[in-house]
Amino acid sequence: MIRSVVRGMGAALPRRIMKNADFEGMVETSDEWIAQRTGIRQRHIAADDETTASLGEAAARAALDDAGLTPDDIDLIVLATSTPNNTFPATAVEIQNRLGMHHGFAFDLQAVCSGFVYAVTTADLYIRGGLAKRVLVIGSETFSRILDWSDRSTCVLFGDGAGAMVLEAGEGAGSIADRGVLAASLRSDGTHKDKLYVDGGPSTTGTVGHLRMEGREVFKHAVGMITDVIEATFSAAGITAEDLDWFVPHQANKRIIDASAKKLGIAEQKVVVTVDLHGNTSAASVPLALSAAVADGRIQKGDLVLLEAMGGGFTWGAVLLRW
Ligand SMILES: CC(C)(COP(=O)(O)OP(=O)(O)OC[C@H]1O[C@@H](n2cnc3c(N)ncnc32)[C@H](O)[C@@H]1OP(=O)(O)O)[C@@H](O)C(=O)NCCC(=O)NCCS
Repeated sequence: MIRSVVRGMGAALPRRIMKNADFEGMVETSDEWIAQRTGIRQRHIAADDETTASLGEAAARAALDDAGLTPDDIDLIVLATSTPNNTFPATAVEIQNRLGMHHGFAFDLQAVCSGFVYAVTTADLYIRGGLAKRVLVIGSETFSRILDWSDRSTCVLFGDGAGAMVLEAGEGAGSIADRGVLAASLRSDGTHKDKLYVDGGPSTTGTVGHLRMEGREVFKHAVGMITDVIEATFSAAGITAEDLDWFVPHQANKRIIDASAKKLGIAEQKVVVTVDLHGNTSAASVPLALSAAVADGRIQKGDLVLLEAMGGGFTWGAVLLRW
């Protein structure tokens, strides 16, 4: 059977780093509060010349280099983002053009912080359905552009960045020993719309709007939703937490990551954490964390890796793959 196998990873971060202490003159907060409640110590913030398209392009080029491929080898680009350069055309098409790619097709996918998990699942179906052989799956965000910088309960939490993965069609035996995407589980539930949203949009206010969040409410739901969808993925694949080599969760809050891993029985040393360095980069957070763990040699060929994310909507999901 066809499997979607990871061939390369890449990342891109804005040049400017903003430390927790840099907020102290802007809103009533402290490095200590932010670090204790969230685990975040710094985040990258895009300059005017850095956009979702430029960061996505840089991450895509890094992933292509890592894969030993060029844009000519790619059939499809799926970009997960909630902060596109423009309402339309899709920023994926802009990235396609920036890469000098004038064949194949490209589109954006919007599932907020779950975007990358949704995008990997989507790319896997295009590959297994025979519509694409090699897919660039990108998560790129510039959440700094939609933050209310006077709201301390949200502005300290988010950052900008991009990560990219090259998925390639490969042969598998149909067993859990195969390399590639092995199982996935996706969920959404719009009853939670008002707990995490942007208060503007083309069809309502005609403005871009700002991010609004009831943090405590999101926190309350997060661990249960994350663990449910992971247990569904484990059961679809016939594995347990003990079989995993690496857990790469969405990087929103260290306390949510710790509580989820604990509830699932995933050992602390198997959890990849980058929230301290990047903050919450929404759809970019999982590929940024994956890139870090691949670059430093933690994730090796043959390792069993679990991706997970949860975000606005709510949307949530998990993907199990063998590297
Ligand atoms: C946002 C979050 C860090 C807040 O932590 P918390 O422990 O729940 O804190 P609370 O919201 O209960 O607020 C506690 C107090 O800190 C205050 N506070 C909020 N942000 C603050 C900040 N940046 N600095 C200092 N104090 C802050 C609140 O106003 C509140 O004060 P009060 O008790 O006087 O009303 C936490 O709720 C969270 O991480 N939620 C999930 C968010 C998330 O992951 N979203 C993305 C999902 S994709």
